[in-house]
Amino acid sequence: MTLFHAASNKVSSQNTVETRLKIQRLLEPTLVVSLSAGSDVIKGLTQTPKFLPPRYFYDDFGSELFEQICALSEYYLTRTETAILQQYAGEIAQITGSCELVELGSGSSTKTRILLDAYYQFGYSLRYVPIDVSAGMLESSARHLLTDYPTLQVHALAGTYEMALTHLEPTQFPTRMICFIGSSLGNLNPQECDVFFSQITNTLEVGEYFLLGVDLQKPKHLLEAAYNDSQGVTAAFNINMLQHLNRQFEGDFDTTQFEHWAFYNETENQIEMHLRSLRSQTVQLRSLNLNVHFEAGETILTEISRKFEINFIQQELKAKGLVPQTVWTDPNQWFALLLCQLQP
Ligand code: AVJ
Repeated sequence: MTLFHAASNKVSSQNTVETRLKIQRLLEPTLVVSLSAGSDVIKGLTQTPKFLPPRYFYDDFGSELFEQICALSEYYLTRTETAILQQYAGEIAQITGSCELVELGSGSSTKTRILLDAYYQFGYSLRYVPIDVSAGMLESSARHLLTDYPTLQVHALAGTYEMALTHLEPTQFPTRMICFIGSSLGNLNPQECDVFFSQITNTLEVGEYFLLGVDLQKPKHLLEAAYNDSQGVTAAFNINMLQHLNRQFEGDFDTTQFEHWAFYNETENQIEMHLRSLRSQTVQLRSLNLNVHFEAGETILTEISRKFEINFIQQELKAKGLVPQTVWTDPNQWFALLLCQLQP
C-alpha cells in the first residue's frame, strides 16, 4: 500500500515537474571557460599584487565546501540572515504580493524556500527565476523545488548576473523582485558595486523590488573568526581555488606550497582572503599558456568581503533610485535585509 502510493506520487510529480521547468543556458559552458574565465585568470595573475575572481571558488567541490561553511558556528552570516528571513518573509510577501522572484546566485536555494513558503501561505502565485553560473547546481535545486512546491514555475538561467539580467523577459506577474541575499554584494569593490546597482536599476520597472542581504560592521574578532574557522573549512575552500584552476586550465599549483590568510582590513572595512606562497616558485597553467612566478611570501587576493554600515548602503541604493522601503536586522545588528523599490 505504502509502496504503491509512493510510486504513483513520484510519477505524477515527475510529469508536472517537466512542464513547470525551463532551463536556459545563456552561453555554452566551453565558451564561458575559454573566453571570459581564462582572461580573468591571466589578468589577475599577471598584475601586482596578484588577484583571482571569487567565482573560481565555486566548482562542485567548492560549492560543497561553501555549504559546510554556512553551517559552521563561527560563520554567523547564514544563520543570522536565515533568522531574519524567517521572521519577516511574511511581511515581504505581503508588501510585494504575487510576483516573479528573480534570484542572483541562487546556489542551493535553501534560504529562498523561506520566501517561497511565505508567498504560498498568503496564496500568492509565484514564478521563480534562479540565476547561477553553475548549471548543474541550478538544475538539481530547481528539480527539488518543483517536487516540493507543486504549483511553482521555475525558469532557470545559467550564466553570469550581467548576462541573465539582460535576458529577463517581461514578466507576466503583477510585479517583480530581484533577490541578492547572502551578502555576495560584499565581493564587489565600490566601483563594481556602483555598476551592479545600475544594472539592477536598468532591469527593474518603476515600482518593482530589490531585496538585498548585507553583512554589517562588527568587532574584528568576530569577523576574523568567521573567516578563520577552527575546523579549517574556510582554508580548504580558499586552497580549493588552486585545485579548480589546476583542473580547468591544466595547472600545476602545488597546494601544499600555499597557505590560507584572512584578516579584517579596518581601513577598507573588508575581510580579505589571500593565498600566500610559502616559497619562491613558478606555476604553469598550460591551457592558458601562462607561467606565473611567486616570491616567497607573495600573496594572491582571492576575495574581499565588505562589511557595510547600514546608513551608507541605504544612501548608495537611494542614489540609484532603489529606495529602501523597509530594513530588517537581527537583535545584534550583525546582518541586514533591505527591501527597496525602484522610484522614477
Ligand atoms: C558568499 C561572498 C557571502 O564573503 O562571506 C565564505 C563567501 N568566503 N567564507 C562571504 C565566503 C569565505 C561569502 N559570500
